[in-house]
Amino acid sequence: MMQINLMINKIKGKIYSNLAMLNISYRWPTYWWRRCGYSIGKNSVISQGVLIWAWHHLDSKNVIIEDDVSIGPRVIIIVRSHSIEQIEIEGKTMGSIPGKVIIKRGAWIGAGSIILPNITIGECGVVGAGAVVTKDVLPYTIVAGVPAKEIKKIVRKI
Ligand SMILES: CC(C)(COP(=O)(O)OP(=O)(O)OC[C@H]1O[C@@H](n2cnc3c(N)ncnc32)[C@H](O)[C@@H]1OP(=O)(O)O)[C@@H](O)C(=O)NCCC(=O)NCCS
Repeated sequence: MMQINLMINKIKGKIYSNLAMLNISYRWPTYWWRRCGYSIGKNSVISQGVLIWAWHHLDSKNVIIEDDVSIGPRVIIIVRSHSIEQIEIEGKTMGSIPGKVIIKRGAWIGAGSIILPNITIGECGVVGAGAVVTKDVLPYTIVAGVPAKEIKKIVRKI
């Protein structure tokens, strides 16, 4: 029975994640990523063509997107990956390893950026378009480039 449920959830994850990639309407991708089981907070928007690279039926608790987050088009959030250690020990990449990505309240992720596993984007953190995020982004900090480096701090005016 557990195997059947797992299989059903796997198929659902594949269908919903493919639907999420379609350009139907503004709220469409966010709706389908939520259906995949991801925690996406109030007023947060996931744009067209965003890819969450994960086994949705197993990893849906490993991506947390808080309230008021904006994720630009074609961002890639990598949750499942390999490790260099696998190559060192086995001489090849065996299976995959789940990671975790947390995007805190008010963050803005620019178009086409890539977020690697086990990264936290801090509150109101900003990721520039096209960045590859390899380290945590501090709150109220703008990072950009490959690999992403801090370019500015954001100062709240009120
Ligand atoms: C990161 C970003 C918010 C910075 O905006 P900003 O504060 O106005 O920054 P500036 O334009 O003053 O740039 C500051 C420096 O960072 C560099 N920079 C800015 N954005 C960059 C990026 N995405 N990648 C690499 N470098 C970048 C600028 O060239 C500049 O460098 P310099 O000081 O050597 O001239 C903006 O450039 C960006 O990438 N926005 C994302 C837009 C997007 O993807 N929207 C999708 C819809 S949600």
